[in-house]
Amino acid sequence: MQSKEINIVLFGIGNVGSTLIKQVQAAKETFAKKNIRVNIPIIANSTTAFFSKEGVDNGWETDFSKLGVPYSILDVVEFINGKQLPNVVAVDATASQEVVNNYVLLIRNGFHIVTANKIANTLDIEFYTALRTALKQYNKRFFYETNVGAGLPIIETLRSLNASGEKISKVRGVFSGSLSYIFNTFSAEERPFSEVLTEASDLGYTEPDAREDLSGNDVARKLLILARELDLQKEFTDVQVDSLIPKKLNGKTTATQFKQRVKELDEPFHFEKTKLKEGQVLRYVGELSVVDETLDVKLVPESKDSPIGQLKGADSLFEIYAESYGDQPLVIQGAGAGKEVTARGIISDIVKLTDVIN
Ligand SMILES: NC(=O)c1ccc[n+]([C@@H]2O[C@H](COP(=O)([O-])OP(=O)(O)OC[C@H]3O[C@@H](n4cnc5c(N)ncnc54)[C@H](OP(=O)(O)O)[C@@H]3O)[C@@H](O)[C@H]2O)c1
Repeated sequence: MQSKEINIVLFGIGNVGSTLIKQVQAAKETFAKKNIRVNIPIIANSTTAFFSKEGVDNGWETDFSKLGVPYSILDVVEFINGKQLPNVVAVDATASQEVVNNYVLLIRNGFHIVTANKIANTLDIEFYTALRTALKQYNKRFFYETNVGAGLPIIETLRSLNASGEKISKVRGVFSGSLSYIFNTFSAEERPFSEVLTEASDLGYTEPDAREDLSGNDVARKLLILARELDLQKEFTDVQVDSLIPKKLNGKTTATQFKQRVKELDEPFHFEKTKLKEGQVLRYVGELSVVDETLDVKLVPESKDSPIGQLKGADSLFEIYAESYGDQPLVIQGAGAGKEVTARGIISDIVKLTDVIN
């Protein structure tokens, strides 16, 4: 069997990026058994890049801090082209729009793209379409399974059901690990909402400013990505989002002020709990009705015997309602966030590339 070489240019060496390097090093033997050689010739953060034709190894952190240099995207392209490295994939493990702005340039210069960054798939539909046109024109691949549900196979499953003519009527679920934890815990225990929120934050489940989770915008972005995957030409503004942040704590309130006033959340969420009927729990769900073309992010009462009602910990859960499955949805559940599962999901996308390259 002919051996294949893949060269990764890694943008972002934070939680996900650094875990990716570690996992790639650890999986080298597995790749070798399949005649695949995975090399990481460039790693970069927002200001500095480390270039090495042979690829980084376990000592990458020292190399990066000693030998990293300021760089521009053109330096990256020049290095790759100059060394004539085959099968190059730009891996975006940032949350940066700047990196996304370079995707088309990278594609034109022969790079495939694998991304954990949701921005490219949630900008306006014009950008979304232009990106896909460039990919077609230059015969390059774009994988982004980790955009929704981290390592869980959501996008791939939807895409293959859709491509096989399956009629998908609805996708519904708990899309956020942090909000899963918060409502699973808040519903099961008699504790104030603020205490549960602070606990979720201490466990590292929420963003440093928990309002980023509570705004519902991240769930909305994931919902939009799934809608577009099912050929709906929707924009972010089409998503109806019920934010969990009371108006008085949004806007001009700083993150520190929000933390100081977090107890003000207790009363409204206690009230939501009092409205529940026997056997119901609260869940923050994303719901895409393919039939009605609506996208909603909202706090709902859910039967505690349903798959969503039974969720525990910080798991995500996705229900796909499709004609061949009848009334029972196809359910995908598991850790929907975390650096280990996300990095593994990126590698799995990279491995998919080996099927289409020489
Ligand atoms: N963590 C998860 O569980 C998870 C799950 C699914 C998806 N994701 C997505 O994965 C991405 C990375 O998450 P993370 O948790 O690893 O973030 P992180 O720890 O904050 O790391 C971000 C990295 O991106 C770099 N970066 C920022 N702007 C850049 C630029 N213009 N060019 C090159 N590098 C740049 C940062 O470098 P500096 O230090 O120089 O700023 C840093 O190394 C995000 O889009 C996130 O939404 C994460």
